[in-house]
Amino acid sequence: MRRIEPRLQRKLLAWLLGPLLLLLALDTATAYFVSLRFANLAYDRALHEIAREIVLHAKPGEGRPRMELSDAAANVLLTDAQDRLYYRVDATDGTLLGGDAELPAPGVLRGRIEPRFRDVELHGEEVRLVSARMPIKTTPGAPEVHVQVAETLHKRTRLAWEMVVSTVLPQLLLIVMATAVVWFGVSRGLQPLQRLRDALANRSHLDLSAIDTHDVPGEVRPLVDEVNELMGRLGTTFDFQNRFVADAAHQLKTPVSGLKAQIELALRETDPERVKHSLAQLYISADRLSRLVRQLLSLARNEPNALDKVQLQPLDLNAFALEVSMDWVPHAIKRSIDLGFEGTDDEPLVIDADRDRLRELINNLIDNAIRYSQPGGRVTVRTGRSADQQVRLAISDDGPSIPVAERQRIFERFHRLLGNQEDGSGLGLAIVSEIATLHGAEITLEEDVDGVGNTFSVFFHSRED
Ligand SMILES: Nc1ncnc2c1ncn2[C@@H]1O[C@H](COP(=O)(O)OP(=O)(O)O)[C@@H](O)[C@H]1O
Ligand SMILES: [Mg+2]
Repeated sequence: MRRIEPRLQRKLLAWLLGPLLLLLALDTATAYFVSLRFANLAYDRALHEIAREIVLHAKPGEGRPRMELSDAAANVLLTDAQDRLYYRVDATDGTLLGGDAELPAPGVLRGRIEPRFRDVELHGEEVRLVSARMPIKTTPGAPEVHVQVAETLHKRTRLAWEMVVSTVLPQLLLIVMATAVVWFGVSRGLQPLQRLRDALANRSHLDLSAIDTHDVPGEVRPLVDEVNELMGRLGTTFDFQNRFVADAAHQLKTPVSGLKAQIELALRETDPERVKHSLAQLYISADRLSRLVRQLLSLARNEPNALDKVQLQPLDLNAFALEVSMDWVPHAIKRSIDLGFEGTDDEPLVIDADRDRLRELINNLIDNAIRYSQPGGRVTVRTGRSADQQVRLAISDDGPSIPVAERQRIFERFHRLLGNQEDGSGLGLAIVSEIATLHGAEITLEEDVDGVGNTFSVFFHSRED
């Protein structure tokens, strides 16, 4: 089983580690500068001390003082394990008395000045320089000299770095630990999702039962609830389809076994007259069967999800309903039914419709009206506008009214009224209903004003021009 890609984990870590590492970098930089300041404070004092020691080797002379610092003494004073040191001593009039002339000349000095510390360049590298003016002897009135001592920066930077490492290292450790905790926590948190995934992956494609929401985290719960809801709806649809297939098979079974029986009978006949009669019967049965098959196909063709295959085009319902009704006149005459049409004279009633499907809808309604009313009855096809400017098509008969309790159910597939002697499968009105839905139209069923008969009305949206 594949694991859930730890994308969430990685994202979280990136969000956490990015800012933390940036903070750490900032912290390292500040720590370095602060540490360097403290290192300077400590070592500057020592540097000033050396300057004092050097001045002890200046003696008063004629005019200006002179330096009596032997190389050996200078070595002792200026030797350091890590850094190189330099000195320079000048008289107050600016004359170099001793030391390294490369150090900056102090110029002519006036007044007493405090020791001054700064970073300068010497012999191509950075050095820390102290410059001070001090008397050569502690007796009052003794001449003064200007002294400078410089030192390379090795031990200062080293100390600063040692201090930085000791503060930053624990922080780094903390970040590493936080990362591990987050990684572990998130993977634990994602475990229920992984289980959910496994449960779904191992499921049979026929199993539409609800997913167990028992240990689903709250954040994912609405999603799982929606999926469960969808499963429920799918289950209903599956049941419906299964029932439909079973019903359809059952409906086909009877005429097919009838056909077989008739054929067997016909095969046994020897009298050509009787064979002919059997064949005529067979033709009727086959015709019935083919009608049933056509209706089943029509149902499949007009499923609500066939919407994108329907091509609605402007059509004058008034003229079209008259045209379709005319085709039924011979059949109505045969059944002694008075078939009438009441239209809007010449005012066109334009709607968006699929011609073939609309013809099927009207055919089914007229067929029912003629089929289920008694000989001598009246069937009327009407077109017009309703009060709210919708286009109305109504087919009325004066046969027995459909009981109110049945008015919904007769639109269901295979549903027929009890005691029905007429041929039929119960699919006609289901097809009518689907076609109406494809046209965005609504169907109503009422009895006639005088309380008998049935009026099926279909309300279409009027086409806006
Ligand atoms: N105009 C009508 N008058 C009386 N009953 C009707 C009428 N139209 C439909 N019905 C009843 O509704 C049932 C379903 O009609 P339909 O779906 O067209 O199927 P079928 O006509 O194949 O039985 C019919 O069997 C009939 O009992
Ligand atoms: Mg019918």
